[in-house]
Amino acid sequence: MTSTTQATKPIAPVDLAAERAELGPALQEAVLRTLESGKYVLGPEVEALERDFAKLHSVAHGVAVGTGTDALWLGLLALGVKPCDDVVTSPFTFFASAASIALIGAKPVLADVDYDTALLDPAKARAAVTPRTTAILPVHLYGHLADMKAFRALCDEKKLALLEDGAQAHGSRRDGYACGTLGDAGTFSFYVTKNLGAAGEGGMVLTQRADVAKNLRELRDHGSPTKYVHARIGTNSRLQAIQAAILNVKLPHLERWNERRRQLAARYGRNLAGSKVIAPLTLASGTTHTYHQYTVRIRGERSRDAVAAALSAKQIFAGVHYPSPVHLQEAAKPWGYGPGDFPNAERLAREVLCLPVHPFLSDADVDRVSEALLEAAGA
Ligand SMILES: Cc1ncc(COP(=O)(O)O)c(C=O)c1O
Repeated sequence: MTSTTQATKPIAPVDLAAERAELGPALQEAVLRTLESGKYVLGPEVEALERDFAKLHSVAHGVAVGTGTDALWLGLLALGVKPCDDVVTSPFTFFASAASIALIGAKPVLADVDYDTALLDPAKARAAVTPRTTAILPVHLYGHLADMKAFRALCDEKKLALLEDGAQAHGSRRDGYACGTLGDAGTFSFYVTKNLGAAGEGGMVLTQRADVAKNLRELRDHGSPTKYVHARIGTNSRLQAIQAAILNVKLPHLERWNERRRQLAARYGRNLAGSKVIAPLTLASGTTHTYHQYTVRIRGERSRDAVAAALSAKQIFAGVHYPSPVHLQEAAKPWGYGPGDFPNAERLAREVLCLPVHPFLSDADVDRVSEALLEAAGA
């Protein structure tokens, strides 16, 4: 291969082929073993995943479900959130965080994020609490845990439930605590592109509370404590055994993969330091970030979209998570918000650019992205 073709090798946000290559035959073996076992829904593979994923996060109980969205929705139900309640969450997140509240018939009440971390601001969440508020749902965006000590104190004071959206925060910690530890429960997504991804869909709720775990086991199985006995309305959200088997092969690698993401993020930080127009998000003290995304804000004369287009012309594919804040989505209209209501979220939606960061990138790849970015942004 000539150096010219090397230079135009695409750099994408994920590299599933490299991941498969690293794992070797273990993935196929796990799938075939599960196929031959005849246990396709829940069963021993799912139980092993629940146990080991909970252990990795130092949380007592894990309950696997069909998707990260179900984990949120059923998590809220398990904590007793009811129709007509208010639940406070972030306007700068994947839409599922807010939609899971609305699915219950409760109202997503939004509070702005901090501009430097893109995380729900505890002081603004406090100000958004109403007499109808029964829960707070902070989002650990990009693999960076929200200030859970502050949210725990707020929820204790106001007697609110606390559910953490850790869909992007597998293995992350803050002040030593993982998602699901300080909250009443924490939820995860195993969607393909996550730091721990299935070959399809999957989700998990972690909780220290045995009562919440019991509620969740019933809710994911049509409210059924024992076969054909239905104590409440639930749904069918049982993780498939083949997905659990795949996740069980990948789980032992998660901490190492996350460490590699941190190394790459540190390299980006050094490469981009001193730029006046590229501003990486700030890392809160005491956090072990897992860099599901490495996110910078583009604040120069060239717009974020122009910079992203210049990168993609060089075969570098950066992501925009998210181009619109939650409150300006069509589906959010009934919640009554409008432009200007959450200025930090709106500004971030205009400025954020998520640079490729996955464990199979080389240092040279990060240098190539950094150079191209500095040039594209005119930094
Ligand atoms: C912050 C956040 N919450 C919730 C979800 C929903 O997870 P899933 O796609 O597994 O339903 C996602 C998925 O991207 C997410 O990023």
